[in-house]
Amino acid sequence: MALRTLDGVAVAGRRVLLRADLNVPVHDGRIADLTRIERLLPMIRELSGKGARVIVLSHFDRPKGKPVPSMSLAPVAAALGVALGRPVRFAADCIGPPAQQAIAALADGDVAVLENTRFHPGEEKNDPDFARQLAGQGDIFVNDAFSVSHRAHASTEGIAHLLPSYAGRAMQAELEALAAVLTAPQHPVAAIIGGAKVSTKLALLGNLVGRVDMLMIGGAMANTFLAAQGRNVGRSLQEPECHPIAREVLQRAAAAGCKVVLPSDAVTAPEPKAGIQTRIFPIEEIPPDAMILDIGPRTVSALAAEITTLRTLVWNGPLGAFETPPFDAGTTAVAHAVAAATRAGQLHSVAGGGDTVSALHHAAVLGQISYVSTAGGAFLEWLEGRTLPGVAVLGG
Ligand code: 3PG
Ligand code: MG
Repeated sequence: MALRTLDGVAVAGRRVLLRADLNVPVHDGRIADLTRIERLLPMIRELSGKGARVIVLSHFDRPKGKPVPSMSLAPVAAALGVALGRPVRFAADCIGPPAQQAIAALADGDVAVLENTRFHPGEEKNDPDFARQLAGQGDIFVNDAFSVSHRAHASTEGIAHLLPSYAGRAMQAELEALAAVLTAPQHPVAAIIGGAKVSTKLALLGNLVGRVDMLMIGGAMANTFLAAQGRNVGRSLQEPECHPIAREVLQRAAAAGCKVVLPSDAVTAPEPKAGIQTRIFPIEEIPPDAMILDIGPRTVSALAAEITTLRTLVWNGPLGAFETPPFDAGTTAVAHAVAAATRAGQLHSVAGGGDTVSALHHAAVLGQISYVSTAGGAFLEWLEGRTLPGVAVLGG
């Protein structure tokens, strides 16, 4: 089945329920990053420009089925209005009289945001009655939120069975960028997988070894692989219970002809503290009292050299404790290599996951990657090769 897009769909004068992901990061009561809002703007402008009455649905944080004032979408709706440059009506509930009144007041081209869908227990339960109440408020459903499509919730999945439903433009772009990496990539294709824990990325590694030509592993999860191979990793973070599975991943990679690149040297310190004295060791010489906190310069050079040979790359997870300088150096250097190859037109690069986006932002190369996904869990589940319910229901 093919993804149903908005091409040729008449929206003028119609009430379009637009599922967005307005779950923006908030620090000290302020929106810390506007990316998710900015990516939604073209879709709203297209619908509004064609005379649709745009009704934005979203969750915000995890209020667990009841109204939590600090998790109101009201400030986010205000920020959306500012970004959009036009007034955005806000309804204090996503169903019932507040929603109905706000929607009834919309003229063609107007925009409303309804309060957090997760204030109702029916949302996460994908309750049919709640989905019917939401669906009854619109004529067409559009999902432009890939990042929440791994959730089979009423506003992502249930509702799509009840109305003519389509993928929004950002969803479409995201699925195309992802398909270009794993479904029909240009070879050689590699994955850089980092982060702290192998245990959270087992399914993903298992899927990738059968699909990519090269797997580059960094971050604390590399320590688990090294230890599983009998290396001494000193006091480094690692997961001994994952050694058998790490060995199995390596065996499967070998059988599939997937080259695995593990760190050959490391930046170490007694603890992950900013500005602390560091020492670099070859991987076979890590002292018992040292902690591996970043990939070393030899590993950086090796990865940078491999990157120049690739056509396609997918990246999830930092390669060291990048939040704590100087342990950001390895991730930043590799990010620069990826950005350079992408700029040169040699590489199609896709990165995703919260920490990965922060690391690329920190390296100042966010705009130099072919596609950066703001999705966390959905991006990981997609890397695992799983069907995302919110995408499947749109024919994708
Ligand atoms: C996200 O931020 O990853 C999405 O908005 C999904 O949020 P959730 O993990 O609370 O479902
Ligand atoms: Mg979250």
